[in-house]
Amino acid sequence: MSLRDELESLRTTASEGLRAATSAEDVESLRHDLLGRSGRLTALMKQLGSVPADERPALGRLANEVRAGLERAIGERTAELSGTDLDARLADEALDMSAPGRPVPVGHLHPVQETMRDVREIFHAYGFEVFEGPEVETEEYNFELLNIPPDHPARDLWDTLYVAAPGSAEAGASRPDPDGTILRTHTSPTQIRAMRALEPPIRVLTPGRCFRYEAVDASHGFEFFQIEGLVVDRDTSLADLKGLLEEVARALYGRDVRTRFRPGYYPFTEPSVAFDIGCLVCGGEGCAACKRSGWMTILGAGMVHPTVLRNGGLDPAEFQGYAFGMGPDRMTMLRHGINDIRLFFSADLRFLGQFSEGR
Ligand code: PHE
Repeated sequence: MSLRDELESLRTTASEGLRAATSAEDVESLRHDLLGRSGRLTALMKQLGSVPADERPALGRLANEVRAGLERAIGERTAELSGTDLDARLADEALDMSAPGRPVPVGHLHPVQETMRDVREIFHAYGFEVFEGPEVETEEYNFELLNIPPDHPARDLWDTLYVAAPGSAEAGASRPDPDGTILRTHTSPTQIRAMRALEPPIRVLTPGRCFRYEAVDASHGFEFFQIEGLVVDRDTSLADLKGLLEEVARALYGRDVRTRFRPGYYPFTEPSVAFDIGCLVCGGEGCAACKRSGWMTILGAGMVHPTVLRNGGLDPAEFQGYAFGMGPDRMTMLRHGINDIRLFFSADLRFLGQFSEGR
């Protein structure tokens, strides 16, 4: 068969083959057989070099024609079989630039952290800076230096979790660590740390996690937050403390909030007070949330005990101070009407998602 005939017959069998193809893969393997490096058309084209010179131009033209025709036919058949006809594809993938965007879900602060942030901002306006202390403390800082000696009954106010060094005989046992390493039961130990680290006038706020050996129920967790405040200067008085806390209560709960101070007891403050706000749930008439008293206690406070000032390295004849400790978990419960403290640590997104509005 002459080269011309071979080219013509290849053209015919190739278009038959293309018509018979049922998938884009079929077409691709056909393309490979015809136009690939050792394909049939490729082989015929190689023979062009050995045909007589006078026939070469015409045959060359024919070969190129066949090749171009095949390439076009292959492209069309592939598009047909894979349904990627260009118009259809453009319609399908069209991008509507005027359509509103899809909202991107963003995280938000835990409601207790939100309260702590608001409290920090309010105190920031009064010149307080944040001073942090360790969560793993020593009995010395948590108790002794705060005027609570080892056998003092006031220790019973703070049920303590003891930490045993790993590998020690006590690890895993319930006996206290002989070195007195504990999880802090309140943020008050940072009073000592701040007095030792800073020079008066001192105005610090310590937000942080605390731990107590509690039977967990709707109003007690073994893990909770406190925000400690400490002011030390030459002429501070209980009147300053009262004025400050009343202003803070108004900033947090509104200008109309009612407040009161009651005598309290803490070994590290003298005198000590409890600070109450009028019940936010019943407005003061008495309800379950305020135990029918019309008031809710949000913090404990007092003038820093002279012994504590001395333990902080300061002379009580020269300096006085006041301190307060508040519970942001409880404050958050009041703020949002949450009735179970355990929800805060539940990591339940159905609960947490309710506070995503941001404030
Ligand atoms: N540390 C006290 C508590 O945990 C609160 C407090 C802090 C009281 C500072 C007085 C001064 O109950």
